[in-house]
Amino acid sequence: MATVLRSLHLLMILYISSIPLNFAQDESQFIYNGFSQANLYLDGIAEILPNGLLQLTNSSNQKLGHAFYQLPINFSTISSLSFSTNFVFAMVPQELEHGGHGIAFAISPSRSFNGIESQYLGLFNRSNNGLTSNHILAIELDPVKSPEFEDIDNHVGIDVNDLRSLESAPAAYYSNEERRDISLELISGNPMQLWIDYDEVEKLLNVTLAPIRTPKPNWPLLSRPINLSEIVLESMYVGFSASTGTVASDHYILGWSFNKSGQAQSLDISRLPTLPPRRKRNEKRIVVIWAHLIVVVVLLLMITGAVYYFRRKKYEEVREDWESEYGTHRFSYKSLYKATKGFKAKEIIGEGGFGKVYRGTLPSNEQIAVKRVSHDSQQGMKEFVAEIISMGRLRHRNLVRLLGYCRRKGELLLIYDYMPHGSLDRFLYSNGRRHLNWLQRFQILKGVASGLLYLHEGWEQIVIHRDIKAGNVLLDAEMNGRLSDFGLARLYDHDTNSQTTLVAGTVGYMALELTRTGRATTYTDVYAFGAFMLEVASGRRPIERMAMAEELVLVDWVFECWSKGTILRASDPRLEGNYVVEEMVLVLKLGLLCSHVNPAARPNMRRVMQFLNGDADLPNIPNDSASFGTFTSSETFDFLWSTPSSFVQSSDPSMSSTVSILKGGG
Ligand SMILES: *[C@@H]1O[C@H](CO)[C@@H](O)[C@H](O)[C@H]1NC(C)=O
Ligand SMILES: *[C@@H]1O[C@H](CO)[C@@H](O)[C@H](O)[C@H]1NC(C)=O
Ligand SMILES: *[C@@H]1O[C@H](CO)[C@@H](O)[C@H](O)[C@H]1NC(C)=O
Ligand SMILES: *[C@@H]1O[C@H](CO)[C@@H](O)[C@H](O)[C@H]1NC(C)=O
Ligand SMILES: *[C@@H]1O[C@H](CO)[C@@H](O)[C@H](O)[C@H]1NC(C)=O
Ligand SMILES: *[C@@H]1O[C@H](CO)[C@@H](O)[C@H](O)[C@H]1NC(C)=O
Repeated sequence: MATVLRSLHLLMILYISSIPLNFAQDESQFIYNGFSQANLYLDGIAEILPNGLLQLTNSSNQKLGHAFYQLPINFSTISSLSFSTNFVFAMVPQELEHGGHGIAFAISPSRSFNGIESQYLGLFNRSNNGLTSNHILAIELDPVKSPEFEDIDNHVGIDVNDLRSLESAPAAYYSNEERRDISLELISGNPMQLWIDYDEVEKLLNVTLAPIRTPKPNWPLLSRPINLSEIVLESMYVGFSASTGTVASDHYILGWSFNKSGQAQSLDISRLPTLPPRRKRNEKRIVVIWAHLIVVVVLLLMITGAVYYFRRKKYEEVREDWESEYGTHRFSYKSLYKATKGFKAKEIIGEGGFGKVYRGTLPSNEQIAVKRVSHDSQQGMKEFVAEIISMGRLRHRNLVRLLGYCRRKGELLLIYDYMPHGSLDRFLYSNGRRHLNWLQRFQILKGVASGLLYLHEGWEQIVIHRDIKAGNVLLDAEMNGRLSDFGLARLYDHDTNSQTTLVAGTVGYMALELTRTGRATTYTDVYAFGAFMLEVASGRRPIERMAMAEELVLVDWVFECWSKGTILRASDPRLEGNYVVEEMVLVLKLGLLCSHVNPAARPNMRRVMQFLNGDADLPNIPNDSASFGTFTSSETFDFLWSTPSSFVQSSDPSMSSTVSILKGGG
């Protein structure tokens, strides 16, 4: 029973497999809409894929693939040599560049090709190319130009025994509808159909190309008279040859119809196998393009981000809610940056204990001075800004007007009116500059006194300057003295905590009680003004370190001159005696009075003004220290010299700079 079944089974298999064989053999005609059942002889890397697609070559380089009809076709000259064939092919590029030889339909006496080279489309080699003994007719579909065969790019050619085409033309088709030729890209991955018709009577070979769904064009691409009997032998094989070059591409045949005894039937396009999805390197190519795009976009974003970030960083400010009420006084850092040409060193007009001062020009052409104060603490900033702004409302011809402020991280910028002549100390001490005559000096002293009086009494609250000195007196266009930096010392006062008290001021201008208690009063301002008067009159700094020992402290030296009855010796030698003696004596004696060690003994600024204006007579000043009191106690010296670590001072000793003294608390 089992054997019967087995032999029945065997019979069935034999029967089924013999059908296409018989059909093709008898008729010399066949049609394959897909190659699943095809009777083909394959070699090289050609293979029939599971879906019936004939793959002649894949993406391997320098490979050949052949697919020939198994059986020879009778091309006997006794009968007609006419034949007709058409097939659908696809050339799928796999690389960024096109390339890789092509496909040829061939009529050949042999279906096996040995010693063949890939650049000869899998049909010839160097030694037999061009020999009439080849008996090969080929229609080549060649996407690349090969100079050795004198051909052109993307062309269809008729080859007889030789890869140098008898005739060739760029890939194109005649559109029956549009009545014109339309060019085609062979290696586009799009399936196309090729018709090859030979008529024995006309001895004409027609080759017609068209996209897959386009009906056969009325006009062939190539039409060439050929005497086929000169080429073919009686028994010939028909099929395809394809090869890949250094740049590989996939070559496919989707369907094929051949007829030796009439017009080849049209292929059923709908039944043809589909091409594999365009993946592999094509996908890779898209991935590569995307990757490039993403990298470029990310880079662009990063650059824009960085530019934006640095621009923001460059002009970054600190702005808090409470500042909204000072809106009109708030300058943007950007505007200051532009006004001072980016805080160029060339624009620096002063450098003191609080920081550098830059000249700037606003877009309105208004000249400003910008003081950059480094200040890390956020503590007390609110109060300080409030105070600074309210002081900005102080209007007096001997005060430098504060226009506004700006805050950045660790930095406070104060904007003032620009004073063209700079600070007084530069006139007093700088060699080479024209020095000031007595009239100007006396005028400046009276102006500063009036400004200070205004601070002390002319405002709804008492404003203590805390840092009167020649360096803080600026000269306007008319050489009037104007006080600047008032209230700035408070910035450091706000840095208080329970442990330490930070006192700001300048050595030589600080009253003893200020260094002791750290408490600034109008009398400590008067003390500093006294030192300032002596400075202007004598042209010496309150503490002259380079001078001889007895001249170390100006006030002591002036008092010594006074007690010796030679007070005019203390006048500035640069004046060369050109001064009003009474005024000089008045200034020196008033300077001494204001420098009295006892705050209560000092006049207030209103009195000082009266003395300077001659509206009141100076009280008698004793000329012995026993009755007047000493100016400099040993304690002052201790403070000045023995505890240098307890205060911070500008690195330039020639500038009597602002110092901050840390006094241990508790
Ligand atoms: C191409 O086909 C050959 C033979 O089938 C195979 O060995 C090779 O791996 C294939 N190459 C690619 C890139 O698919
Ligand atoms: C080819 O066909 C001719 C005539 O039809 C015949 O005489 C010849 O024997 C055939 N040749 C082969 C190889 O079948
Ligand atoms: C060239 O091809 C022919 C035909 O296949 C073959 O007989 C011959 O040996 C080949 N020559 C070389 C040099 O490979
Ligand atoms: C070939 O094309 C020409 C037109 O160029 C046409 O007259 C001829 O009939 C065609 N021959 C075949 C066999 O298709
Ligand atoms: C075609 O070639 C054959 C064989 O070489 C020859 O006998 C015949 O005369 C040729 N026909 C034409 C039209 O050239
Ligand atoms: C071949 O041509 C004949 C005659 O026109 C036709 O009857 C037959 O169907 C064709 N066969 C194929 C496979 O094209």
